[in-house]
Amino acid sequence: MNGKLLVAYVTRYGSTAEVAEAVGARLRERGFDVDVKPVKQASSLDGYDAVVFSTPFYLGAMLKEGRAWLESQRAALEARPNAIFAFGPTSAADDLAETAKQLDKTLVELSWLRPVTARMFVGAYDPAKLRFADRLLTKLPASPLHGLGAHDDRDWRAIGEWADETAEALKAPAAAR
Ligand SMILES: Cc1cc2nc3c(=O)[nH]c(=O)nc-3n(C[C@H](O)[C@H](O)[C@H](O)COP(=O)(O)O)c2cc1C
Repeated sequence: MNGKLLVAYVTRYGSTAEVAEAVGARLRERGFDVDVKPVKQASSLDGYDAVVFSTPFYLGAMLKEGRAWLESQRAALEARPNAIFAFGPTSAADDLAETAKQLDKTLVELSWLRPVTARMFVGAYDPAKLRFADRLLTKLPASPLHGLGAHDDRDWRAIGEWADETAEALKAPAAAR
């Protein structure tokens, strides 16, 4: 056993929640005692040795609820090893390196967070699920989502490998992180 770990996530359409559950299962296989919860059910980090946080990006930023949660947990996160994985581009045809810059920029703003690993992955997109405001955005001819069909290009193999790397990094003694 390598300690008690929380995978905390935010999601708008559910795809990040599915991956958070899968990452939680993988970390369990690597010896952690894992809870997977939406951030609204994670108001205290007492009892957790480490935290993995996940969020999709919308309009260049992590979901507000996720950012607010990170900031509200600042002292607890500074005291524990943490990791972050995020979802951005809606299809594998998009430039993942370009959207990864959105995560890099956010981590510069949250410089106190110091995750042991941080990675952006391709997400999932289904225009049939969109809320009114998001659907309106996709109607704009200039929107990158204009006319885009459903995609689920989540790279489960890369996500699993990242979870394994993260397990190792979280187990490393603090001085080696
Ligand atoms: C209206 C809208 C705006 C989006 N904006 C961005 C963005 O700025 N950057 C990005 O990398 N991905 C963007 N995405 C893609 C989502 O982050 C991606 O589809 C993600 O997997 C959705 O996660 P969820 O199902 O957990 O809400 C956007 C998607 C939608 C529908």
